[in-house]
Amino acid sequence: MNFILFIYINLDYILLIIITSVAGTTFSVFLDPQSQEHAHSDSACPIICNRSHRSYDICSINGPTILDPKVSTFYAIGHTSSTTQVEKVKPYPRKWDIFRMSQITEVTLASGPPRAPCMVQHNAPALLFSAGGYSGDFFTDFSDEFIPLFITINSIYSSEDLILVISNAHDWWTRRYADLLQTFSKYPIINLDNDTTTHCFPSVTIGLISLDLMSAGPKPRPNSKTISHFHALLDKTYAHNHPSNPTSLKSRPQLVLAGRNNAIGRVIMNQAKVKKVAEEEGFDVIEFEPKYATPLREAYALVSSSHVMVGVHGAALTHFLFLQPGSVFMQVVPIGTEQLAEVCFGNLARDMGLEYMEYKIGVEESSLVDKYGKDAMVLRDPEAFLKKKGGWSSGTVETYLKKQNVRLNLTRFRGYLKKAFVKAKAFMDEEG
Ligand SMILES: *[C@@H]1O[C@H](CO)[C@@H](O)[C@H](O)[C@H]1NC(C)=O
Ligand SMILES: *[C@@H]1O[C@H](CO)[C@@H](O)[C@H](O)[C@H]1NC(C)=O
Ligand SMILES: *[C@@H]1O[C@H](CO)[C@@H](O)[C@H](O)[C@H]1NC(C)=O
Repeated sequence: MNFILFIYINLDYILLIIITSVAGTTFSVFLDPQSQEHAHSDSACPIICNRSHRSYDICSINGPTILDPKVSTFYAIGHTSSTTQVEKVKPYPRKWDIFRMSQITEVTLASGPPRAPCMVQHNAPALLFSAGGYSGDFFTDFSDEFIPLFITINSIYSSEDLILVISNAHDWWTRRYADLLQTFSKYPIINLDNDTTTHCFPSVTIGLISLDLMSAGPKPRPNSKTISHFHALLDKTYAHNHPSNPTSLKSRPQLVLAGRNNAIGRVIMNQAKVKKVAEEEGFDVIEFEPKYATPLREAYALVSSSHVMVGVHGAALTHFLFLQPGSVFMQVVPIGTEQLAEVCFGNLARDMGLEYMEYKIGVEESSLVDKYGKDAMVLRDPEAFLKKKGGWSSGTVETYLKKQNVRLNLTRFRGYLKKAFVKAKAFMDEEG
C-alpha cells in the first residue's frame, strides 16, 4: 500500500508550502514571474495557458477546436498565423508531486492544422482532466479530482453544458463515480485513453483549478463556490431517492463509528467499549467499516442520515462530506497527526458548516507507549521527533500512521460524547 505513504509524504510537502503561505500573507508570493509570460490573452493566439499556480496548470482554446485522441492533441481550427503555437499540459492539480505527475498523460494544444478531419461535432465545450491520482484512495479522489472539478466548472462554465473528456481513468473508477459524473455532465464521457474518433468542440479547457486545501479564510477565487455547495451537489446525486429526510424520524441521535479494520494502523483497540459508552450516552451507534468498494449510494444513505460521525484520522473520514451541515464530526487524532488532521479534514469540515470536534489522544492512549515508553520523544514531542527525522518519510509514516493504534480513555472520551450529544440534539431540534 505504497500510495498511502506517498500521500502522506506529499501532504507534508504541502504543509511546508502552506506554512510559508500563511506567513507570506499574499497569494502572489507563489506566482512564478517567468511563467506569467504564458498567461497572455492575445486574441490572435487562441491557446492560453496559466501556469502560475503552485498546484495546477490550466490551458484553454477559446474557439473551435478538434481533438485527435490518438495523439492526445487539441488543434485550434480556423486560426491563421504564420507561427504554430504549441503548449503541453498535464491536467492534474498536483504539480509539486513528481511521482504522481509522471503517471499523468500529457496533452498537447496546437494552433497548427489538424491531421485528421472532424468526425463528431459537439455543440457544448469540452473540459479535460485526468483521473490518474492515487487510484483507490478515497481522499484524493475528492481532494484532487471531484472538488477541483466542481470548482473549475463553477468558475469557468457557470450554467453552461459541458462535455467531460477524461484520461487515465480505470474502468472501476468510472463505474464507482458514474452517478457523480452524470451530475456534472449529461453527455457521455469521452475517454481519451481509448477513443479513436476525432471530436470537434466550440472550445476546450484542459486541467482543473484545485482547492487550496490549506488556505484558511477567504478563497482566492471570487466565483468559486464553497464546500457546502459541493455537499449540495453530492446530496443531489446520492439522495434524490429519499422522499423525506430520515434523520428527522429518529428519537435518539444516530452516531456512525467509522472503524479502520480494512485499513492499516490507527485502529480503535477498544472499539466495542467505545460503542457501549456512546450507547450509554444516548446514541444509536452504527459501526461502519468503509471499504473503497462500498457503493457511494449506500455510504451516503448511512452517513447523511446520521447526526454524528466519529473516526480516527484516515482517508475513510472523507465520508464527512456526506454529513448534513449542522451535524457533528469528531476526528480522533493520534499522536503526531495533528497537522494532517487539520489540513485534510478540519478546515473543510468547518467550511462545510459541520460541528467539528477533535479528540486529540493523550500519550497513554497511543499503542506507541507499549513500544517506546511514555516518556519517549516520539510520544512527548512528535513535532521535534519529525524534525529530527527530516519530516515525513517512510520511517515516520510507519511509526505514526501504520504502527500506531489507539486505546481511548473511556472516562475522557465520554466527556466528548456528552458534548457531541448536546450538539446532536440541538441539530435534531432545529431540523424539526
Ligand atoms: C492565473 O492564475 C492565477 C491563480 O493561480 C490568477 O491569480 C491569475 O489571475 C491567472 N492569470 C490569468 C491571466 O488568468
Ligand atoms: C473505452 O473504455 C471504456 C471503459 O473501459 C468503455 O466503456 C468504452 O466503450 C471504450 N470506448 C471505446 C471507443 O473503445
Ligand atoms: C483518563 O482520563 C481521565 C479524565 O481526563 C483522567 O483523570 C485519567 O487519569 C485518565 N486515565 C488514564 C489511565 O490515563
